[in-house]
Amino acid sequence: MDFELKTLSRPRSASEKCDALVVLVPAAMTAQADALSGLIASAIKAKDLQTDCGKLLQAYRSPGLGASRLVLAGVGSGSAKDVKAGVAAALAALKSSSAQRVIISLSWLTGEPAELLAQTQAAVLACGQSAYSYRHTLSKPAPARLHKFIIGVPAADAVRSGFDHGVAVALGVNLAREWGNRPPNHATPTLLAGAARELGKLPRMRVDVLGPREVARLGMGSFMAVAQGSEEPLRFIVLRYSGAAASQAPVVLVGKGITFDTGGISIKPAAEMDEMKFDMCGAASVLGTFRALAELQPRLNAVGLIAACENMPDGRALKPGDVVRSMSGQTIEVLNTDAEGRLILCDALTYAERFKPRAVVDIATLTGACVIALGAVRSGLFASDDALASALQHAGEAALDPCWRMPLDDEYAEGLKTHFADVANVAGRAAGSVTAAKFLQRFATQFPWAHLDIAGTAWKGGAAKGATGRPVGLLVQYLLSQVQPPASPVKPARRAAVRRSKA
Ligand code: BES
Ligand code: MN
Ligand code: ZN
Repeated sequence: MDFELKTLSRPRSASEKCDALVVLVPAAMTAQADALSGLIASAIKAKDLQTDCGKLLQAYRSPGLGASRLVLAGVGSGSAKDVKAGVAAALAALKSSSAQRVIISLSWLTGEPAELLAQTQAAVLACGQSAYSYRHTLSKPAPARLHKFIIGVPAADAVRSGFDHGVAVALGVNLAREWGNRPPNHATPTLLAGAARELGKLPRMRVDVLGPREVARLGMGSFMAVAQGSEEPLRFIVLRYSGAAASQAPVVLVGKGITFDTGGISIKPAAEMDEMKFDMCGAASVLGTFRALAELQPRLNAVGLIAACENMPDGRALKPGDVVRSMSGQTIEVLNTDAEGRLILCDALTYAERFKPRAVVDIATLTGACVIALGAVRSGLFASDDALASALQHAGEAALDPCWRMPLDDEYAEGLKTHFADVANVAGRAAGSVTAAKFLQRFATQFPWAHLDIAGTAWKGGAAKGATGRPVGLLVQYLLSQVQPPASPVKPARRAAVRRSKA
């Protein structure tokens, strides 16, 4: 995957040598004097090209063009969302060709500079998405085509920050997809920690990995209880990105890293159980977000915490009715061993206190109930702090990685009461994603806290089975919105990016 941002006027887009030229054509396209504009205008007039988002018109070896293939791609309103969908459609059409180097020309788009920034970011994201394919356990992986993406714009400097942001998120998303997709025997807690350690080699990054002994010493009795049914040793991963003075409080991201969820003794039915390899997608999104931070080097501090283990049935496994003691001191009656995500996250949230964080956001494939509530479109957002909720909501919209705020009324916690411990790990069937969040909230009292339930958005099932890399886009957008503008003057393009992502 190789990206380049290039100033290409309309005539230059047409003459530039490459395997394919993708021209994004909005409904409001205005023709200019150049030949390709004239061609596009006549195709629209003849109704051979629809400008609806996703509609295509293709040509091969057209005289006068530098590119061997031409794809005119409708992008409707020209919104960032439509640009992303239009680029995705065009690249999907090129996938079966032998094209390797492609120009995506944004020079036919119209709009304000801020809009062009978001459009550039969206185009890069779509390219990144199409460049990824799973290969790790295939003996004959398909050859990687389409790997060089040249983003052509009227003026490169004006959109450079959007381009950089897009490239960083694309790298992060694809890292998250890769680890989400790896089979459970190829993505154990130990291997996940290895992936984190690799990130630790990047600038301003530091990674520490704790094993069972250290975790026992910390008193994480709840996390340990989930891991005790597995032969695979647990890992607690601490990532640090230090882009600002040590005195600046960090944002802490906490990822659920269940590398396989059988349900434990409360075992799951066989159908689609393989998809529970994706139960570490929260952890993968933390890795992906730190990959993007290492790329962008923003002026902020961030900590990533990943609790990683398997949830297995075994002679030593946690049983329904067992009471465990969490790191916070609260005791928990485990009524269902399949509600294990909250049992590992609660100890990670307590651990987060030591960083005196500005905010803590946990990310977890936590409940099937969230899939029922919101499907695959929006992640569930729960927050104890309105400003944090609003920042995350805005980030989700801007990054085309949306979430939806859910309630946290105290009445929802009623069902978690038990006679045998401070709290039970499950309530009834009603509002299952909310009661799970209410459980977590008991362990997040020392800082502004939000929880993203990504059970519906982190992966796709069926024929297109695979991890999506969500919500890396949302998280990176949120973190960049938290950068304090520095006192010293910075490049205008940078400043624009910060302001836009805050809006
Ligand atoms: N990892 C699952 C949640 C899940 C299930 C995500 C299906 C996506 C699809 C989680 O550990 C779990 O099993 N949750 C239970 C909780 C219940 C026992 C209260 C669930 O949602 O059924
Ligand atoms: Mn479970
Ligand atoms: Zn789970």
